[in-house]
Amino acid sequence: MTIDVAILGATGMVGQRFVQLLSAHPEFRVAEICASDRSAGKRYAEAATWRLEGDNPLADRVVLPCDPAAVRSRVVFSALDSSAARSIEPAFRDAGKRVLTNASPFRMSPEVPLLVPEVNPEHAELVRGRDGYIVANPNCTHQAMVIALAPLHQRWGVEAVCCASYQAVSGAGYPGESAWDMLGNVHPHPGDEEEKVASEPRKILSAPDLRISARCVRVPVADGHLVAVQAKLRHDPGVDAIVEAMRSFAGPVPLPSSPRPLIHVLEGRDRPTPRQDAMRGGGMAVTVARVEPCEVHTVKFFALAHNAIRGAAGGAIANAELLRARGLLG
Ligand SMILES: NC(=O)c1ccc[n+]([C@@H]2O[C@H](COP(=O)([O-])OP(=O)(O)OC[C@H]3O[C@@H](n4cnc5c(N)ncnc54)[C@H](OP(=O)(O)O)[C@@H]3O)[C@@H](O)[C@H]2O)c1
Repeated sequence: MTIDVAILGATGMVGQRFVQLLSAHPEFRVAEICASDRSAGKRYAEAATWRLEGDNPLADRVVLPCDPAAVRSRVVFSALDSSAARSIEPAFRDAGKRVLTNASPFRMSPEVPLLVPEVNPEHAELVRGRDGYIVANPNCTHQAMVIALAPLHQRWGVEAVCCASYQAVSGAGYPGESAWDMLGNVHPHPGDEEEKVASEPRKILSAPDLRISARCVRVPVADGHLVAVQAKLRHDPGVDAIVEAMRSFAGPVPLPSSPRPLIHVLEGRDRPTPRQDAMRGGGMAVTVARVEPCEVHTVKFFALAHNAIRGAAGGAIANAELLRARGLLG
């Protein structure tokens, strides 16, 4: 049986990814699409220019306002701008809806699970017994890093991380960064991305003492965030054991959107690249390469994931699949 779902912020970059990914999903059916008052009442094709590969599968659907009274579906995916999410998502939760969000305002709230379904599935239990709730997926920048670090943390403990991102422009939504900043240029991130990268992995990995120093930079790439990681482990097992731990890592429950293998560790010294590797595993896999001993910490590597699929819409859909498998979605 499929579950009817609504998408809040359906007109944006991530909202369109939700529409695309859910149009062929085995468990969920898009019943309602919602956006701001600028878009409500219009046909989807009129409210938003379709910016992804292929055709808009819901072009004739009428966009609804982001009002819980106007939405029948109990399961709601949110791709709202963070300032809009701050007031709209609690209104949906208080109306008894199950909100799966990409937005940042509630990620660090103690009552909100910050989920990567393969890494911390047990955190989903926080919502058991609740009527409405918010479940968040993390910032897109560190998703590849946190998935690659998870098997290392589970086996040997990760004490500290230094990382630098090379982030795609689609991560800033549409229209996102100005052409002036991005054309023939790289742009150190002016927002609070570095703080999110430094704090969210602690909650996901249940590692309150983990120290992370992050630098975030936007580069002229369409999709796919690459992160250079140097990690200090409590015990150094050697590079071969680290590679084996990454290659064998998978979530405890098979989910339709979680690829196996989850982490591809490549041998080539010139990988991963966004063009070649962002769509691995349908955009849900993580690609790692250049796993080498680190002169300062224990190990260094590059990790890459698709920011709008694994890092946003696909991640939230996988969270919903996990909640459903655990009897927490309805
Ligand atoms: N892009 C990524 O790779 C990525 C990755 C991870 C997380 N995120 C997060 O996901 C969310 C969406 O990102 P995006 O890149 O898709 O942004 P975006 O392209 O700017 O889209 C924003 C969406 O929010 C809607 N919206 C804005 N103000 C609203 C309001 N007052 N009431 C109702 N709806 C409103 C917009 O509707 P209208 O079209 O009607 O204005 C649009 O659908 C953000 O919180 C972002 O931080 C993005």
